[in-house]
Amino acid sequence: MTQDIVASTIARHQGREGPLLPILHELQHTLGYIPREALPRIAQALNLSRAEVHGVVSYYHHFRTEKPTAPVLQVCRAESCQAMGADRLWDHAQAHGGCQVEAVYCLGLCASSPAAMLGEEPLGRLTPEKLDEVLG
Ligand code: FES
Repeated sequence: MTQDIVASTIARHQGREGPLLPILHELQHTLGYIPREALPRIAQALNLSRAEVHGVVSYYHHFRTEKPTAPVLQVCRAESCQAMGADRLWDHAQAHGGCQVEAVYCLGLCASSPAAMLGEEPLGRLTPEKLDEVLG
């Protein structure tokens, strides 16, 4: 199943210009992570070295190569969100324990600070109480 998804994702982007990032984004969106075993397959398909693909995956903190053990909550810790209470949200999310908390630096939701993403769902004007409701 996972191998089929990897193969079809590569095939969908392989002939396009600059296919590496779209492939990585789509795999993470679809699977929730980029399986390590996919990296050599991507490298071979795009005629890149494994080191090049690994370098891109490890450079961007957004990408993960391990399957998340819990829902992933990305809490924005950049300036606008920090000014609106992101540190308090960060501490609250970590204490909650029902999710895997990751720091990100601007989600493009500054007008709705403090902001976070739960999986693919954007959350704006977030409070600890609202976060409890969302996480259950
Ligand atoms: Fe948090 Fe932009 S600073 S979304």
